[in-house]
Amino acid sequence: MDYQKIINDIVAELDLSKFDGKVADYIPELGKVSPDKFGVHLNCINSGHYSHGDSDEKFSIQSIAKVFTLTMAALKIGNKVLERVDVEPSGDPFNSLTQLEYENGIPRNPLINAGALVVCDILLTELENPKEDFLAFVRKIAQNPEINYNLKVARSEAKSGFRNAALVNYMKSFGNIHNEVDDVLDLYFHTCSIEMTCKELSETFMLFANRGCILNSGERILTGSQTKRINAIMQTCGFYDEAGEFAFRVGLPGKSGVGGGIAAVHPGYYSVVVWSPKLNPKGNSALGMRVLELLTTKTELSVF
Ligand code: DON
Repeated sequence: MDYQKIINDIVAELDLSKFDGKVADYIPELGKVSPDKFGVHLNCINSGHYSHGDSDEKFSIQSIAKVFTLTMAALKIGNKVLERVDVEPSGDPFNSLTQLEYENGIPRNPLINAGALVVCDILLTELENPKEDFLAFVRKIAQNPEINYNLKVARSEAKSGFRNAALVNYMKSFGNIHNEVDDVLDLYFHTCSIEMTCKELSETFMLFANRGCILNSGERILTGSQTKRINAIMQTCGFYDEAGEFAFRVGLPGKSGVGGGIAAVHPGYYSVVVWSPKLNPKGNSALGMRVLELLTTKTELSVF
C-alpha cells in the first residue's frame, strides 16, 4: 500500500475553504492556536512513517488523553474500573451532566468527561505520585521522554473548567468520587494538557494497533483482550454524540480532542493522527474526520 501517495491524493482532493469549524476557545489558551494548522501522520506497522503538513508541531491532545488514563486504570485495577464507569455510548455531548442524575452518578463510559474524571479519581487512589506517574506511563508507551504537560493550558482550563467542576461535585454527591474534588480536577486538567505532535501521538497509539505491544521493543503492555476492549470503547464512545457518524464514515476505533486532534487505529495495520483545530458543532475536528473518511475509502480497508 502506497500510503504517502494516498495521503497526497487526499490532500490534493480537499477543498480547505469548505472546512469552516471553530477553534475551541472555552479554554482560552487553546483559542490562541492558528485555525489553519493541518498535519497528518500515519505510522504503518510494517512499513514506517508517512506524513503531511504540520505533523511535527505539538498540539494539545485534550480528550485523547482519556484513552491513556483508561489504559493506566485498567492496568492498575482491571475490571474494578467497570464498577465505577459503564461502557455504553452516551449519545450526548462530551461535557453533559444530564444522564448522571438518573444513572446515579455512574458515567456512561470512560471517554466522556464524567467518565474520565472518575478514572482520574481511580488513578489518584492507585498512584503514589499521580501526575508524575501518569506522565511517565505516557512517555513509556510513546517511547519518548520528551512528552510533557503544558502547564499554561492546564492552568487556563483550571480557571474556566466550571462544567468539569460541576461534574465532579455531582458525582461526589453519589459517592462515585473518593478523593478531593480539587485534586481530581487538577489531575484531569493536567492529563488533557499533554502536548504531542501527530507523529508522537501516532507512535503512542501504535500500542492499540499492535495488539497491546510497543512496536519497537515488542514489550507487551496490554493483553490482547484488554486491547480489544479499549479499541471497542474507542469505536463506540470516542466521538461522543458523533460516534455513530465516525463509525459510519471512517470505520476505525479512534478518539478526538478539542485541540483538533483525532487519533485512530486500524488494528494490525497502522495508527494515524490528523490535526486541524477547527471543530464541528459536536467538538470533533471537521477536516480530521474528512481526511480519515477519505483514507479508509481510498485504501478500501477499515475494521468493517
Ligand atoms: O474537559 C474538557 O472540556 C477538555 N479538557 C477536553 C474536552 C475534549 O477534548 C472533548 N473532545 N472532543
